[in-house]
Amino acid sequence: MTRRATRERLVVALTGASGAVLGVRLLERLRERGEVETHLVVSRNAERVLRVETGWTAARLRRLADHAWSPDALDAPLASGSFRTRGMVVVPCSIKTLSAVANCFSADLVARAADVTLKQRRPLVLVVRETPLHLGQLRQMVLAAEAGATILPPVPAFYARPRSVADLVDQTVGRILDALGFDDPRLRRWRGG
Ligand SMILES: Cc1cc2nc3c(=O)[nH]c(=O)nc-3n(C[C@H](O)[C@H](O)[C@H](O)COP(=O)(O)O)c2cc1C
Repeated sequence: MTRRATRERLVVALTGASGAVLGVRLLERLRERGEVETHLVVSRNAERVLRVETGWTAARLRRLADHAWSPDALDAPLASGSFRTRGMVVVPCSIKTLSAVANCFSADLVARAADVTLKQRRPLVLVVRETPLHLGQLRQMVLAAEAGATILPPVPAFYARPRSVADLVDQTVGRILDALGFDDPRLRRWRGG
């Protein structure tokens, strides 16, 4: 049996919040590691933010994934719980997509795949990026967390003494890998003062 046939699958979605570079770096790291088969969904708004913030096209991003799906493809395998995955990460996650997930409003493949991930009791990590937050937005986070999602905003740990934006990005990517159950040797963990 080939290695490819035995690899677990991971769904990675980018939505239109700031922080497209986090999605890019996560896909690069997953590709380097090679242990999971990545299924990528990029929302229309994420394509725009990706271009503004990184100059990357969605086509270039898709080349980092093993499979890429249109956000309109509600008939894609990942729209069904019978398609087994290790879990899903939405990075970055907009408030709009957070709200869709929190309210089971599965109008696109990102929200549907996230809803499926929750109903199948698989890990779902939402890298929600917005600040400041009003009470309604905080309530959406509570709803999603109650349904089983991990809310993982890209918040720096200054005790790791980041020296560059790349350090900050790598730190958040390390936290995401950790939340999905990957052992990440690059993640600097606090070992006491
Ligand atoms: C440059 C840019 C940055 C944005 N940053 C954020 C953000 O940080 N958080 C957020 O919730 N929405 C942000 N938005 C707005 C979302 O893109 C918008 O709500 C969109 O409808 C999200 O749709 P999606 O979740 O389907 O990608 C931003 C939009 C643009 C153009």
